[in-house]
Amino acid sequence: MRGMSFDFSSQVLYIYLIMSYPSVHIKSFGCQMNKLDTALVSSALKSVGFNITESVKEADVVLINTCSVREHAEQRVFSHLGHLKHIKETRPDLIVVVFGCMAQRLGANLLGHEAVDIVCGPAQIPQITELVKKAIKEKQKQLVITEKIRQKTNDYQTDALEKFESTYGSKDKHIPGQARLPRGLSGGQAFVRVMRGCNNFCSYCIVPFVRGPEVSRPPAAIIGQIKKLAEAGVKQVTLLGQRVNAYKYTAGEKTYCLADLLEMASDINGIEWLRFVTNYPSEEFFGEILQVMADSPKVCNYLHIPAQSGSDKILHAMNRHYTAKQYLELLDKARAAVADIAIAGDFIVGFPGEIEEDFQATVELVRKARYKNCFIFKYSPRPGTTADKGLKDDVPIEVKKGRNTELLAEQETISGQLSRDFLGKEVKVLVEGPSKKPHLNSAVGEGRLQLVGRTATDYIVVFNGPTSLAGEFVRVKIIKTSPLTLFGELM
Ligand code: 5AD
Ligand code: SF4
Repeated sequence: MRGMSFDFSSQVLYIYLIMSYPSVHIKSFGCQMNKLDTALVSSALKSVGFNITESVKEADVVLINTCSVREHAEQRVFSHLGHLKHIKETRPDLIVVVFGCMAQRLGANLLGHEAVDIVCGPAQIPQITELVKKAIKEKQKQLVITEKIRQKTNDYQTDALEKFESTYGSKDKHIPGQARLPRGLSGGQAFVRVMRGCNNFCSYCIVPFVRGPEVSRPPAAIIGQIKKLAEAGVKQVTLLGQRVNAYKYTAGEKTYCLADLLEMASDINGIEWLRFVTNYPSEEFFGEILQVMADSPKVCNYLHIPAQSGSDKILHAMNRHYTAKQYLELLDKARAAVADIAIAGDFIVGFPGEIEEDFQATVELVRKARYKNCFIFKYSPRPGTTADKGLKDDVPIEVKKGRNTELLAEQETISGQLSRDFLGKEVKVLVEGPSKKPHLNSAVGEGRLQLVGRTATDYIVVFNGPTSLAGEFVRVKIIKTSPLTLFGELM
């Protein structure tokens, strides 16, 4: 495809060119929602004949799925665009598409970047194949985003997204929602979106401004998709939503909540593990969700439930609707309902107005919560959010870094203790594929690699074994632990 606009004299080359399809390379930044969108877009492009390539060099079209949640994520995209601009100097036919959250946030400004040909918002991904085809033909810049993002999503858009979500992948070997795993191996797992958008407006968060209002998908569409995935060999499904525990859909007399979805999905043959992320700390439906976790062996005993801060003053300023005490009560309730539940969290350090006393309240909460692990972020002001508009980013970067390190160290001690409890024990693991980084217990034997997988409670397990085990359940005996990884031997 590359160079189609040139005048080739060789007939053979001409025939080759008209027969070959454009190659596309997709780079993905950000969360699991984005990974799912990337998989859907990749599948849609494949279904109309594009080849997917792992190398930018071979690509006729480069797509970047972007994240806006912190400034750093956007800077990485800009540095990538700088690189592509350089490549375009010698390959002006290269087409560059920016889609996802940053595309929605920056719109026309992003289109102004020299390297960029197409800017496409998260709600417009069903149009991506047509936009790319048009760009190849007409070489014109195109901008497609939602103009008034906080207006109720129009029916046309919702229908297009529904159709896109449930169609792509069915025509080829690609499974919709399947996570991309190392070296093309299938990890037997997939993501399924249950909700789009968010209505919570936590004061620091850009998501409601780029992904729009909260919409729960119809249960029949979700369950239909999980059945298709199960038929295609998927064993683990992760249900995705910005506040997945707030899932609510009324059909006729009945209102479905996340617990109903989990129960229905548990009845599907072939699905062995079900997960859901991410949870907002709230009483609503919490009891029902814990009940189905306790009752169904398929629902993994794992809860990702971000607290963000341990200071009530900061939680209030973040527009989080709970206190530290209420949050800890939710964790107690979870542990009372599901004895071996593993809990993970997120924190933001250095939010405006966070003084040492507030930070120490966060440290205290981490000590009490006894998370399996937690993700810690330095506050990053996001344009347009209420925190950015109304509060001064007054915590110096050195202080943010110091608090980040201190909180990580606190959590590492707890994670180390919890991991050590696994020593000598046997665990069931869903194998993802070869481990990306070498670990201490090196692999032995031909065709054997260091494999990585996860337990139902989301512990990462590394062990030696044949690559053919990717996507399978195995039993592993734990012989060594570190705070974030368990090392073991295949049973
Ligand atoms: N700055 C830093 N971290 C943020 N997060 C969301 N918005 C911001 C921000 N402006 C974090 C929260 C959230 C996770 C996905 O990212 O902890 O749970
Ligand atoms: Fe952002 Fe809060 Fe919605 Fe999560 S719940 S996506 S942090 S606004």
